[in-house]
Amino acid sequence: MNTFKIDEDRPSEHIRKIALTFNGEFEEGLGASSLKLDNSEIGHGYINLYEPFPGMNVRTYNLKLSKELSFNLKDHGYSPLYLIYCLEGSYYHHYSSTEGATKIAQGRNLISISAANEEHELTLPANEDIKISVIALLRNKLKDEGRGNLVNVIRDIVLKMDQGESYQFIGGLRNNIERHAKILVENRRTDLAGKLITEAAAYTTLAAQLDDHDKDLSKSTNIELTDKELDRVIALCNYISNNLDKSNTIKELAYTSGLYPKKLQDAFQYLFNESVAAFIKNMRLEKSKELLENTNLSVGLICDKIGINSKSYFSKIFTEKYGNLPTEYRLSFNQGENSFELSYRSKARLYLPDTEVEKIVTLSEQSNKDVGITGCLIYYEEEFFQIIEGKKSDVLNLFEKIKEDERHKKVTILWKGYRKKKIFKEPGLFFVSDRKNFNYNHIKDLGITMQSLLRGDKKTAIKDLRFWQRIRNLIIDKALVG
Ligand SMILES: Cc1cc2nc3c(=O)[nH]c(=O)nc-3n(C[C@H](O)[C@H](O)[C@H](O)COP(=O)(O)O)c2cc1C
Repeated sequence: MNTFKIDEDRPSEHIRKIALTFNGEFEEGLGASSLKLDNSEIGHGYINLYEPFPGMNVRTYNLKLSKELSFNLKDHGYSPLYLIYCLEGSYYHHYSSTEGATKIAQGRNLISISAANEEHELTLPANEDIKISVIALLRNKLKDEGRGNLVNVIRDIVLKMDQGESYQFIGGLRNNIERHAKILVENRRTDLAGKLITEAAAYTTLAAQLDDHDKDLSKSTNIELTDKELDRVIALCNYISNNLDKSNTIKELAYTSGLYPKKLQDAFQYLFNESVAAFIKNMRLEKSKELLENTNLSVGLICDKIGINSKSYFSKIFTEKYGNLPTEYRLSFNQGENSFELSYRSKARLYLPDTEVEKIVTLSEQSNKDVGITGCLIYYEEEFFQIIEGKKSDVLNLFEKIKEDERHKKVTILWKGYRKKKIFKEPGLFFVSDRKNFNYNHIKDLGITMQSLLRGDKKTAIKDLRFWQRIRNLIIDKALVG
């Protein structure tokens, strides 16, 4: 039986483990990750993860498995609230204290809290098309920051639920969740429009699940919206995200989408719980946040890109939403806990002496320490693989130097982006190699051998990028846990 433990504090890590076990393709970003499984041993499909804000993890399973897959929802001492919706197929849910599992079928809404110290397990069966959304709310992490009312409402609901005993609610079939959950499970995009659509779908799914639980909690609006119209609205979101610098009046958007203005407004209200204008404003602000995090563009240029004419108006609405002026936000983001990672592989220069590699390692250990960069270097069969992480500007400056170094060539980036937490705890450079004659005395040991990194992967050639992607996932998996 394949069972993976889920730690809601680090929700992407069990997905990395699944990728490693079944040779899946794992892509990760800040707040969104995706795993593609495509192999006869385990099956085909996707597992996606979204973290819209601290305290809310959303996972979607869109799979056809050839073997059962189980998830152990480990107890954290603070019992997350789980809202699980089965859109297609079925699954089994089981508390550690009770005997036997409950089969939950298509169209069912499960709301569950386990008692303190109790674990529960979710099992996805084999040979069925499965579409399931799982929303986990972590009461200790839901803070009143930035996202306004919604987080507060969710927090109140979660806090009201009794923490003492386990609680399970399985809703009837007459519910309004399906359409929202369908968007949630089937949307795989992780670009800005994709993220906003998923985020909105997660909120509306959550609201519909709670509504099903307690009809008074929210008032669902029922509008007539065909699947075709729904597709048009989603295509329109994509259009808006690519044309944020345009004015985009309702009339223009109605023309672009081929929907009447009234229908358009109703559809946005239904899907996103906000007006078209509020949706566009939100998207502009999210885009500006992304640009502040990832570029050095001035606030004025950012305003041009997102179609806001006045810098002072932009600063005002940005502050209202995120609690900081744009420039302050950029500063605190750059100095914050978020760490920037860059991983690359390269080919050593022909006949590079081992002493030269030793020199790189010894010098880098000291100079990386000096600037607060952490990382590791792998040297295997004349190929280098390196992860460096730290402040974005430091990492990019160092990479510029490394790229130009004549001791290697064909430098190819495997992954770069922000991470919430660093992979390696100690600054400096860990080194792993299969070479016997190095003087390892002054080399920092990661506790991982080359043999253990190679184990289990005999099929992928070292030339193949996937070989190194797998090595990267293995290192992160081992370094983060160990
Ligand atoms: C595969 C490889 C990995 C390297 N890793 C680092 C490193 O992590 N830190 C570092 O300071 N230099 C590293 N270097 C060396 C740099 O390319 C460069 O020689 C060094 O930073 C000194 O540059 P400077 O004399 O211009 O300051 C690496 C070189 C190679 C070929």
